[in-house]
Amino acid sequence: MSGQARILRAPRAGRAAWRLLAAHEKQLRGTHLRELFATDPRRGERMSAEAAGIYLDYSKNRINDETLRLLLELAHECGLGERIEAMFTGAHVNTTEDRAALHSALRAPRGERLVVDGVEVISQVQEVLDRMATFAERVRSGAWRGHTGKRIRNVVNIGIGGSDLGPVMAYEALRHYSARDLNFRFVSNVDGTDFAEATRDLDCTETLFIISSKTFTTIETLSNAHAARAWCVAGLGDEAAVRKHFVAVSTNGTGVAQFGIDTDNMFGFWDWVGGRYSMDSAIGLSTMIAIGPEHFRALLAGGHAMDAHFRNAPFAANLPVLLGLISIWNNDFLGAQTTAILPYDQYLKRFPAYLQQLAMESNGKQVTLRGARIGYQTGPIYWGEPGTNGQHSFYQLLHQGTKLVPCDFIGFCQTLNPLGRQHDLLIANLFAQSEALAFGKTAEQLRAEGVPARLVAHRTFEGNRPSNTLLAERLTPAALGALVALYEHSVYTQAAIWNINPFDQWGVELGKALAQQMLPELELPSAPDVAHDSSTQALIQRYRRLKRWPTT
Ligand code: F6P
Repeated sequence: MSGQARILRAPRAGRAAWRLLAAHEKQLRGTHLRELFATDPRRGERMSAEAAGIYLDYSKNRINDETLRLLLELAHECGLGERIEAMFTGAHVNTTEDRAALHSALRAPRGERLVVDGVEVISQVQEVLDRMATFAERVRSGAWRGHTGKRIRNVVNIGIGGSDLGPVMAYEALRHYSARDLNFRFVSNVDGTDFAEATRDLDCTETLFIISSKTFTTIETLSNAHAARAWCVAGLGDEAAVRKHFVAVSTNGTGVAQFGIDTDNMFGFWDWVGGRYSMDSAIGLSTMIAIGPEHFRALLAGGHAMDAHFRNAPFAANLPVLLGLISIWNNDFLGAQTTAILPYDQYLKRFPAYLQQLAMESNGKQVTLRGARIGYQTGPIYWGEPGTNGQHSFYQLLHQGTKLVPCDFIGFCQTLNPLGRQHDLLIANLFAQSEALAFGKTAEQLRAEGVPARLVAHRTFEGNRPSNTLLAERLTPAALGALVALYEHSVYTQAAIWNINPFDQWGVELGKALAQQMLPELELPSAPDVAHDSSTQALIQRYRRLKRWPTT
């Protein structure tokens, strides 16, 4: 199976533990999970931890007590404790943008106080939550009426990245708790198809658009927002209709006003909330309208419970720290390039996509906090699909492929939709998959079963493939809040070890700028003379030849 990681340099802080871990990995290399379980009958219970209603079983990883000891030492050497405290107290941990990263303040209970850069932030958060709650209740009850006096039946969130993925994921995840007399749609892609298909069967007199954009400058969102506005005004025949059919969520009041949305109908947040960390802010307005303010508060409470655990629990029993450190082990020492997120719950179908942005936009970095080039692996690639669909698609590679793919299985003990024995069947599949990945099936077992010799190699499962299992009682708003916070803090833990900034995203800039520059070359009948490489040039020419030009 996959080659071992090339252990290049280690983060400056933590070098001693890193070297010890590299040496330890060589010693442990030949040890199979079968052996680790056989020699420790209590391993399954021992290597587990629980917080905020989430049980983490990390025993099916290629680790022993020494691995854990060294990983915890690495965390201490890298100053993880101080970095956690710095984040929670509002230090400017987002160094390149000189900002705090205080998503935890979004879920702090009313009455707590936190002064950041001279401003008390928790009362501001509570004020916005209260305004959101009043608005959400008005929409849900029918008190908020459209331009013609009809009640709102459709809510369309227009946003992209963190202003879309969190809201869609949360809506899908908590659909069970949602108002079923309201339709929710999410438009993100600048591809006109997204807007067209999301609105084709909607009645504009009953439709409310939420324009969600932290900066209110994102071209995809503004393009869709203008399309929505044109659709609404054309349908209602009156510019004044915008007031009743558009609200905004943003940090940019000027941009919102310029677009023509009354800032009375704007819900604000702050530069210390990163886009991919914003689903608990006003960016969650569509979630609150869907599930109601009380359930939204429960979502925040779940996140807060995990925040408190991350901040206070000893590292050896700290879920986000353990999840983060195990990811470092798999990625930097075992050479795994990816992590599969496998929720055994249909409501979590967008959870892998949500985590992709959270983890990859945060930790896809190549320089340290001080800008020095990194010589070790950083963020793994996150991907996944809900079980059991993935089993009939890519699990073959997980079991018998040549690549090492650590998996996070996520499941719930109670279903929200009982249907015969189907929930037991679903969870049997979850447990069976992690068992099969870890223990496999040997050639001896196959021969003993009478499998013909020519098929033995094909049917052998070598096992020893790592996974975590996250189990909660039931998918509630609080459980989702805790799960989201768990992954946010696991991402932060990894960033602290790698000594990178998980809160900026400079890597998205170049493509954006080039697209803006290139637009006139695709739009104007006489193309401006711009130098490109031969590949880009040929593609532009072909596009211009085959595109449909507007008729005047
Ligand atoms: O993809 C870059 C990014 O800045 C994300 O970090 C962010 O979530 C997304 O664009 C949307 O940004 P905004 O909310 O400002 O429209």
